[in-house]
Amino acid sequence: MLRTHHCGELRIADAGKEVTLCGWLQRARDLGGMTFIDLRDRYGITQLAFNMETDSNLCKKARELGREYVLQVKGQVTERSSKNPRMPTGDIEIIVHELHILNEAQTPPFTIEEETDGGDELRMKYRYLDIRRELVRSKLELRHRMALETRKYLNEQQFIEVETPVLIKSTPEGARDFVVPSRMHAGQFYALPQSPQTFKQLLMVGGIDRYFQIVKCFRDEDLRADRQPEFTQIDCEMSFVTREDVLNTFEGLAKHLFKAVKGVEGIRFDRMSYQDAMKYYGSDKPDTRFGMRFTELDELVKGQGFKVFDQAELVAGICAEGCAGYSRKQLDELTQWVQRPQIGAKGLVYVKYNEDGSFKSSVDKFFDQEQLKAWAERTGARPGDLMLLLAGQKDATRKALGELRLEMGRRLDLRDPDTYACLWVTDFPLLEWDEETQRFYAMHHPFTSPLKEDIELLDTRPGEVRANAYDMVINGVEIGGGSIRIYHRPLQEKMFEVLGFTPEEALKQFGFLMNAFQYGAPPHGGVAFGFDRWCALFGGSESIRDYIAFPKNNAGRDIMIDSPSPIDPMQLKELHLKTDKQEGAG
Ligand code: AMO
Repeated sequence: MLRTHHCGELRIADAGKEVTLCGWLQRARDLGGMTFIDLRDRYGITQLAFNMETDSNLCKKARELGREYVLQVKGQVTERSSKNPRMPTGDIEIIVHELHILNEAQTPPFTIEEETDGGDELRMKYRYLDIRRELVRSKLELRHRMALETRKYLNEQQFIEVETPVLIKSTPEGARDFVVPSRMHAGQFYALPQSPQTFKQLLMVGGIDRYFQIVKCFRDEDLRADRQPEFTQIDCEMSFVTREDVLNTFEGLAKHLFKAVKGVEGIRFDRMSYQDAMKYYGSDKPDTRFGMRFTELDELVKGQGFKVFDQAELVAGICAEGCAGYSRKQLDELTQWVQRPQIGAKGLVYVKYNEDGSFKSSVDKFFDQEQLKAWAERTGARPGDLMLLLAGQKDATRKALGELRLEMGRRLDLRDPDTYACLWVTDFPLLEWDEETQRFYAMHHPFTSPLKEDIELLDTRPGEVRANAYDMVINGVEIGGGSIRIYHRPLQEKMFEVLGFTPEEALKQFGFLMNAFQYGAPPHGGVAFGFDRWCALFGGSESIRDYIAFPKNNAGRDIMIDSPSPIDPMQLKELHLKTDKQEGAG
């Protein structure tokens, strides 16, 4: 080894030892007679000291080094005269007597320290330099621990990790596929998996009754902070289980990760139906760290001549505790906030429940104090509270009120990052109607089983059929989702029919799965977790990008390697992607 110790481990007890360290020069300081260098590696920073009086040649050599030079030094661990309590190695320094430059470095494009002057794009372009920063590296270390503990837990539960192919054909997961042209089969394409869904089900038919895989998935969709075109799932499937078994097994995984990685015990999982989630939180992934549930007020508020309420499909509100003192300016600002196109509300009705028991509202013209009091009773408002009401089309109103609830939660500091509210949302609708194409789509995917008691509705009222599907939600983030699957061919055929496939189309695309169901498919179900999202949640960040070693930017580009990029005309030709016309031209 080129070193005897790393830069994070030497303490006062090591004083007197001869050591060899390797690392990068983070920063150098010349103080007349002395030169100090902070030497950094993956484990920390150790101060090197060079003394002009005792070894002027070496000290001069040290003064010529630049930032990020790669060094090897030999020296003696010595107690520092001025200690730095903020550094684990802050009690000691190395009095260097040998210095080797292992490699020189150009001045980095940004400072590689906790506080950096580099912007996002620059740091993405030089991601390998950014990774030298403790802040970034520690996120990758967290990810590593999460993966390790996941494997440990699932292995103990008899799951085995099986790899599934990456060059496949399209799986209908809802997003667009990335495709790969085939050289050997002109005009034909592989697709990259949006998830290993069908393969894991085939593994169940193959008798691998507990499967998992930490696996890359690819989706060509619009990017956001919590979405990357390639991301990682903890993908799992089990045979001979009910929904309860699946939920219990993966609550176990969550509890294990909370304890092993975060040191948090006593995590509890609530259950909530999709219908309740929408009705009370306006979201299928409610943040239940705080209450502020919706109250529906229709019959209390309609018929009093206030058109906005009279014409609304739904009038619903929340109660913001202790906010009756909001000023006109604050209320105007909230109104503008809900009117932004992203939220889409037409306006906001407020009712202040003053400390003296009186009410002051934006609709005093239409409602008297008695009526407002009835609203307060309904919403649970008490003196000092502020009621905020939205009205309009049902789904849109719920969605907007959901956003307002989150915003109020944020303003009132109710979304504590160190509190974890875990939840299974269940009973999602099986199907979603799409106006544009005039057909149903599977809300989850077409292999999800309907709830037994709803199967008969498939023919008559498909829109009302509930799925045996569930999402794991933590602090308002959809961490994972899954379902109990269809495992009988006739029901799977029926499902494709409802989704508008002809029997021939269904056979062509999914014949392999439906055939497998004829050879003894066991009842099965599973779940997949967004591994990057889970890491980001544990790391206390909203962006999953930080937890991916080499992420894509918001435009889906890797600006470090410059991808996507054009390919050679020869390659295009081999792949049969160049038309004759293009060939003629080029
Ligand atoms: P689903 O599509 O819900 O289910 O995906 C599972 C989880 O993966 C995460 N996720 C993403 N993370 C980052 N970037 C993305 N673009 C992205 N898309 C999804 C989310 C999500 O909850 N095969 C099914 C699972 C199953 O039925 O077992 C599936 O893929 O956290």
